[in-house]
Amino acid sequence: MGKFIAISNKKGGVGKTTTSINLAAALAVLEKKTLLIDADPQGNATVGLGFTSKDTVHGTLEFIQGKSNIHQCIHSINQYQDFIGTRINLAIIEIGRQKNTDIYRLRSVLEPIRSQYDYVIIDSPPTLGLISLNIFTAVDSLIIPVQAEYFAFHGLQKLLTTLVSIRNSSNPNLDIEGILITMYSPITKLSNHIKAELEKNFESLVFDTLIYRNVKLSEAPSHGQDIIKYDINSKAAINYLNLAEEIITRNDNVQDHNMAGLGKHIDEIIKEANTDDLDFILNLKKQDKNSVFKKKDINSAKYNDILGLTKSQLEKNRGLIYNDIYSNVWMYRINEKTGLFNKKYLYLFFHDDVVIDYSLNRFKLPPQKAEANLMIVLEKHGLEREY
Ligand SMILES: Nc1ncnc2c1ncn2[C@@H]1O[C@H](COP(=O)(O)OP(=O)(O)OP(=O)(O)O)[C@@H](O)[C@H]1O
Ligand SMILES: [Mg+2]
Repeated sequence: MGKFIAISNKKGGVGKTTTSINLAAALAVLEKKTLLIDADPQGNATVGLGFTSKDTVHGTLEFIQGKSNIHQCIHSINQYQDFIGTRINLAIIEIGRQKNTDIYRLRSVLEPIRSQYDYVIIDSPPTLGLISLNIFTAVDSLIIPVQAEYFAFHGLQKLLTTLVSIRNSSNPNLDIEGILITMYSPITKLSNHIKAELEKNFESLVFDTLIYRNVKLSEAPSHGQDIIKYDINSKAAINYLNLAEEIITRNDNVQDHNMAGLGKHIDEIIKEANTDDLDFILNLKKQDKNSVFKKKDINSAKYNDILGLTKSQLEKNRGLIYNDIYSNVWMYRINEKTGLFNKKYLYLFFHDDVVIDYSLNRFKLPPQKAEANLMIVLEKHGLEREY
C-alpha cells in the first residue's frame, strides 16, 4: 500500500519544491514506484522538471476536480516515477464559495490509486488555503523543510497548529514524517545553532539526514532536471538519496503506516494534553512526568534577587503587567534575547505575600497549569496552600 506524503511549510523559499522533486527522484532510483504531484499553482516543480503549460492541460486542477482521469494527467518520467504537473489555473480552487466537502476532493481522487504506488509526494504551496487543506486531508504525513537560516521557525508554529486542527477534524491520522533541515552549511554558526534548537525542541521529529546548501540544487531546475539526472555525484544527490533511504527504512520497519511517522509522538502528546493549544503541547513535550514545567538555567542568577520580595516591592520594581494582585502566581513576559525562541515567560510563585520560587518558561501556561505548578512548588518547600 502506498504512502502519501506532502512537503509543506507555510514559509516560502525553504526548499519544498526542491525537496519534492529530488526526494521523488531518489525514491524512484531506489526502485520505489513514486508519483510526484505539483499542487502549488506557482508550478515550480512542473517547470523545474522541464514541463510547459501545454503539457499540463490535464493537470492537478483537472485531476482534483475529476474532469480528467489519472491516465490523462500522468506523465511517465521513468519506469518508477510518474508526475502530475500544474498550471496557474490550480489557484481557482482557493477562490469562490466553499462547501464543507471541498476539502475532501483530493483525497477522493487519490485514494483509488493508493495501491498503484509505493509513495505519492505532493509539493505544497506556501499558503494555508483550501489547496493546503485538501492536501492535509488527503495525505498520511508531512515532511516539513526548515531552512537553516534566519526566521527558520517562522511559519512552523502556524503549520503545526493547523496540523492539530486537521487531526481534530478531517484527518485524524495525519502524521509528521519529519522535519527536514535544508540549506545547511556546517561552517556557519547560525546553521548549527538552528539545528541544535530544532533538535532540542522537536527531538526525534528531525530527520538524521541534512540537506546541505549546494549550488547544484539551484542549477538543476533551469536544465529541467532533478539532481540525480543533473549530477549524480553531487553532494546534493547523495543527500536526497540518503533522505529517501531514511524514509524507506522507517516505513519498511513498520507494518501499519499510521504508526510509521515520527509524529506519533506528537499524537500521544496531544492526547495527553487534551487541548489544541500548541504552545501548551510543545511545552508539555519538554516536561518530565513529575514537573509540569521545565525550569531553565539561563539567566537564573539574574532572577534570584526576586526571591523573597513582596508583592508591593515587585509592583514598585517591575510593574504589575499581566498580574492579578490576589493571585499567588504571577507571570511576566521577558523580552530579552535568550535564544531563537526569545519570547520567554517568568512565573513567580508566592506564599504569604513573598516570592518563594520562580520558573522561566518558553511558552505561556494555561491558568490551571500555572495553578498546578504553584502546588508543586509549595510541596517542594513544605508549605501549605493559602486560601
Ligand atoms: N539545499 C539547497 N542549496 C542551495 N539552494 C537551494 C537548496 N534548496 C533550495 N534551494 C534554492 O532555494 C530557492 C527556494 O527553494 P524552493 O523553490 O525549493 O523553495 P519552496 O519552499 O518550494 O518555495 P515556495 O514557497 O516559493 O514554493 C530555489 O532557488 C532553490 O533552487
Ligand atoms: Mg515551491
